[in-house]
Amino acid sequence: MRVNSKYRIKPYPISAVVAGMELGRLVLTHDDKVMLSEGTILSESMIAGLKFWDISTVFIKECSPAMGIDLSIPETVLQKKFYADYDHTVNLLKNSFAKLRFFTEVPLATLCELVNNSIDPLINATGVINHMHMVRRQDDYTFHHSVNVAVICGVLGKWLGYAGQELQDLVLAGLLHDVGKTQIPLEILNKPGKLTPEEMEIMHLHTIRGYQLLRNTPNAPQGVIYGVLQHHERFDGSGYPLTVSGDKIHKFARIIAIADIYDAMTSDRVYHRKISPFAVVEVIVDEMFNKLDPAIGTVFLNNVRDYFVGNIVELSDGRQAEVIYLGQFMASRPVVVTEDQEYIDLERNKSLSIVNVIRA
Ligand SMILES: [Fe+2]
Repeated sequence: MRVNSKYRIKPYPISAVVAGMELGRLVLTHDDKVMLSEGTILSESMIAGLKFWDISTVFIKECSPAMGIDLSIPETVLQKKFYADYDHTVNLLKNSFAKLRFFTEVPLATLCELVNNSIDPLINATGVINHMHMVRRQDDYTFHHSVNVAVICGVLGKWLGYAGQELQDLVLAGLLHDVGKTQIPLEILNKPGKLTPEEMEIMHLHTIRGYQLLRNTPNAPQGVIYGVLQHHERFDGSGYPLTVSGDKIHKFARIIAIADIYDAMTSDRVYHRKISPFAVVEVIVDEMFNKLDPAIGTVFLNNVRDYFVGNIVELSDGRQAEVIYLGQFMASRPVVVTEDQEYIDLERNKSLSIVNVIRA
């Protein structure tokens, strides 16, 4: 229904509303009196009034790209805050890991503080999965990837029902999953292009090096130690370093494996351009019944797909389109509507695919 209209209506938390936005639905007071009508252009004083009356969410009218209207909606306050907090967290981690490379001691207390004070707010931010995709990454892949995996572990952990200390430990395991890379020579770690088989073998040692670092760290939680050691093990025994399989792989490591694949594939790397989250979902569906834990994979896919509706994407034929519907669970390819109002079910039309997310 929304695709026939000129606009789409999206809920905004009041903290993200700025002057100049147009109301897509009327706002009622708590005793059901009309406070502001649909179509009102909000002013600063109206926003202050909404806050005064404790209105937590309003519906805002956004231009629909399907009508060929300007896509350049400015970043919301929430997005700006997320990006600033994210950059700050990456810088804090960079400092900790730089020390680690020389002193080979994991600053556990500092990293626990980082999880509680900096990463936890990112996990709980509205729209976190979309923000993660649009975040501007600087050069240092390892630090960005570590923060991203920690955040995705936290989000996925919450979907799986984790809470409290166990969730904090899982996030810490995600943050530290590649800590062993601080012990890998920089010329291998940062080598552009493919690694030789010998270099690849050294690279694979980051799992064992991470395990050794954490074993020597007083009070390191068990789940963190095994999450780090086993995050490249695969459910069918095809991973490394010990080729263990099934539930011999710690559940933290099985969660990290999914977060790691999702983030690595949706990132720009020295050896590949980032792939759209839609294509990554297809990969996870493919691997879910042999290499990944199917129960965890199912929870991930069921929840992550909700974030994709409303994304503006680029199709393989160059057209822009809006994702309007995601079908059955296994149907990883959505229905989109293009700028010229063509509805395409990508599950049926396999000659087209999503190559990029323009706005999440
Ligand atoms: Fe790794």
